[in-house]
Amino acid sequence: MAKASRDKQPDSPARTNARVALVGFGTVGRAVAKILCGRSDGALQLTQICNRNVARKKQPWVPANVVWTEQFSDVINSDAEIVVELIGGLSPAGELVRAALAAGKSVVTANKQLIARHGPELLQLANENGCQLEYGASVAGGVPVLPALRTGLSGDRLHGIASILNGTCNFILSRIEAERVPFGDALEEAQARGYAEADASEDLDGGDARAKLAILALAGLHVHVEPDNIRARTIRSIDAVDFDYAADLGCTIRQISRADLKETTLFAEVGPSLVPASSPFGRVQRNLNLVLTSGQYGGDIAFLGAGAGGDPTAVAVVSDLISVADGLSAGGRRNHALHLISPKVNCDFETPWYLRFWVKDQPGIIAGLASILSAHQLNIDSVLQKPGFEKSALPFVITLEPCRDSQLQPALHEMSALPFALRPCLSLPILR
Ligand SMILES: NC(=O)c1ccc[n+]([C@@H]2O[C@H](COP(=O)([O-])OP(=O)(O)OC[C@H]3O[C@@H](n4cnc5c(N)ncnc54)[C@H](OP(=O)(O)O)[C@@H]3O)[C@@H](O)[C@H]2O)c1
Repeated sequence: MAKASRDKQPDSPARTNARVALVGFGTVGRAVAKILCGRSDGALQLTQICNRNVARKKQPWVPANVVWTEQFSDVINSDAEIVVELIGGLSPAGELVRAALAAGKSVVTANKQLIARHGPELLQLANENGCQLEYGASVAGGVPVLPALRTGLSGDRLHGIASILNGTCNFILSRIEAERVPFGDALEEAQARGYAEADASEDLDGGDARAKLAILALAGLHVHVEPDNIRARTIRSIDAVDFDYAADLGCTIRQISRADLKETTLFAEVGPSLVPASSPFGRVQRNLNLVLTSGQYGGDIAFLGAGAGGDPTAVAVVSDLISVADGLSAGGRRNHALHLISPKVNCDFETPWYLRFWVKDQPGIIAGLASILSAHQLNIDSVLQKPGFEKSALPFVITLEPCRDSQLQPALHEMSALPFALRPCLSLPILR
């Protein structure tokens, strides 16, 4: 097996290029290869492309000296110093990344599932083998937020992250906002435009965003949190009428992923939330991503841009490659500190709340709800009711003064059991 050379001897000649093997020649892999083949500075040399059934993948624009293979073992046994993993998923991507690191090869990946679930273990393996693991494209695609967290902001002590991380949800919510179309129509449009998969559950129900939030928390807050421990609420229960009520409150609705580290507790959750329409979150349209970090010394910093797409994501991958190649060229390891804490995780944020009810109109509704809220020491801030709905199915809204999620949940449970409630109450935090 050809062990990747990584320690430059004091009298060794200056390096001219770093040998790169690309595994996964799909949307992002192809875009990465295009950039690498178009570069003329010689710092990165594409030596291998690996994909299953590789014959159908060959391209005339790839130089003839690049080896095409469908065997991972060819990559591991080659003299490539950097392996780019772009096949996605946990397996066999995980086995490939582990084998590459164990062989002393640095790895660049865009694989959020792998990093969210196994990031700390893989970073440790990279450290033990004197190589690097970079994953800058795994969150927010082409927006360079992860490199910023790991270098440009590493001098600060970050304590908070609030973000729009899922382009599919943002596209759907901003379409409902703009056109007041039903949720199902906005989802169909997202699918027709290729922004949502046929089964969009991972996006809509928050699984994708919480994996990305776990990675941001790893890189920025230095915490190890399992994605499954972050509560995710679905956007499926949002109606067009919620945007009407939100607008009356000066707000709109976005899927927000947030994490606040307070001593040894990580407050974290993903879900639809009311945000001021004029705020940076309220202004994010279509499938863009936004990440806002809060630091003890540097205050708030915002990152906005295309969170997906072959070319933007490829830029992030190639930028990671350049960073690894610079490390190889300098003859030094550029490992990142791995002093992680494993905090308690909960979603017990204290915020004002938006509660939307669908009821069958009858006398005593407000009194019934108010008595439950009062029994749980929850204070009403406002009651909103739009005219023009049938009395048989009437939406109306109560907003609450700030309280904890844990204080609200039992009241919601009781309210949803009231005889006039047609659907469970929708509760959304209001972020100011
Ligand atoms: N696309 C984006 O906008 C975006 C944004 C951020 C991050 N990412 C991440 O980037 C990675 C790649 O995404 P992508 O959109 O490029 O995916 P993709 O278009 O599905 O490409 C994956 C490639 O890997 C190949 N592959 C899959 N399993 C393999 C295996 N077991 N052995 C060999 N080759 C295999 C596939 O071959 P076949 O052609 O045979 O399927 C395909 O060519 C994923 O981790 C994804 O989450 C993507």
